[in-house]
Amino acid sequence: IMLSRRIASRLRVMETPFYLYDTELLRQTLESVVNESKRYNYKVHYAIKANYDDRLLAIIREYGLGVDCASGNEVQKAIEAGFDPKSIVYAGVGKRDKELRYAIEQEIMAINCESIEELLVLDAMAAEAGRTVEVALRVNPDIDPKTNHCIDTGQADSKFGISYEEILDNAERIRSLKHLRIVGVHLHIGSQIRELHVFENMCQKVNVIVENLERLGFSFRFVDVGGGLGINYDMPENEPIPNFASLFAIVHNHLRVGDREVHFEFGRSIVGECGELITRVLFNKTTATGRKLLIVDASMTELIRPALYGSYHNIENITAETDRTDKYTVVGTACESTDRFDENVSLRRSVRGDLLTIKSAGAYGMSMASRYNLHDLPGAVYGEDLM
Ligand code: LLP
Repeated sequence: IMLSRRIASRLRVMETPFYLYDTELLRQTLESVVNESKRYNYKVHYAIKANYDDRLLAIIREYGLGVDCASGNEVQKAIEAGFDPKSIVYAGVGKRDKELRYAIEQEIMAINCESIEELLVLDAMAAEAGRTVEVALRVNPDIDPKTNHCIDTGQADSKFGISYEEILDNAERIRSLKHLRIVGVHLHIGSQIRELHVFENMCQKVNVIVENLERLGFSFRFVDVGGGLGINYDMPENEPIPNFASLFAIVHNHLRVGDREVHFEFGRSIVGECGELITRVLFNKTTATGRKLLIVDASMTELIRPALYGSYHNIENITAETDRTDKYTVVGTACESTDRFDENVSLRRSVRGDLLTIKSAGAYGMSMASRYNLHDLPGAVYGEDLM
């Protein structure tokens, strides 16, 4: 059962809302991804955008993962957290000059370039710095990941990556850039992917892309197939650790690897299930239409996913005195109508002061928190400190 339920009475006295991290579950998840990836000698990076909490990063580093970054500040965070720059990749459609310069200076594993113009600019900066920079081409794979459209990234019309056609058209020019070493191909098809056969299509695309580009004279040391493995938001207790083994088996069976390294960039699947947002019931009220509102002290400023994407998070009352349930619409404190965590959800009868847990909030929760309405940023509590 969830950590919060096991220690509900201890949480009662803490100031809410806050994130509760089950560090033991994080460790088990890391053990799983490390053990399963070792079978095929796959390299795993942690997508730090999912959660850049220092304590979590320290644990993740213990397990030897690299990092996938989406900004100069994320690269800096990863380096400050003690990760080896040579295990850091950096993607992003719009890298500022100072971010590119910083990545060059730090000699990270690869800068994943997302436009021809970026390649030209980076080549010039590398020349200026007197360096040769290792680069991966982020290809737009044009694949439907069958996930929420707000979070797909790999379809033809998206802003991410360079189209395969554009790379073909510019192959000579790219290869002639003297200060860049094109060492890898990178792609990321989207996030929260639960239909694993999508990854099979991805492998087939990658095979074609990589082999055709190598025929044109490129030579890649690695293929980085991104992240995207989904988690079970509906019933997290049934699947606290995502099925890394199945994904790796699919890639093993369908990706033609040759002597290239294979890299992954997992965010959600590493930290998603270990985090819960703990919030307290402030008020009950009923609308004129008869809808029972449960007003809690968290809001979209702590966890924006429901308001932004209509995402579902399982909610439970962890301190209720009764097992009788009621249907509630759970809303937050922010001045926005979309600031609602769930509608008509069945919860144990909830009264002022009860604690609710909003589950599976470890990924893209705290890292997307804001100070709208001048809310305080939520704190964090770690399971290992409470044991
Ligand atoms: N690599 C790249 C290049 C990415 O863009 C992403 C996520 C990842 C790796 C990690 O993907 P993951 O394993 O976490 O699926 N805020 C949204 C998710 C945005 C994902 C953006 N890119 C959400 O809350 O669902």
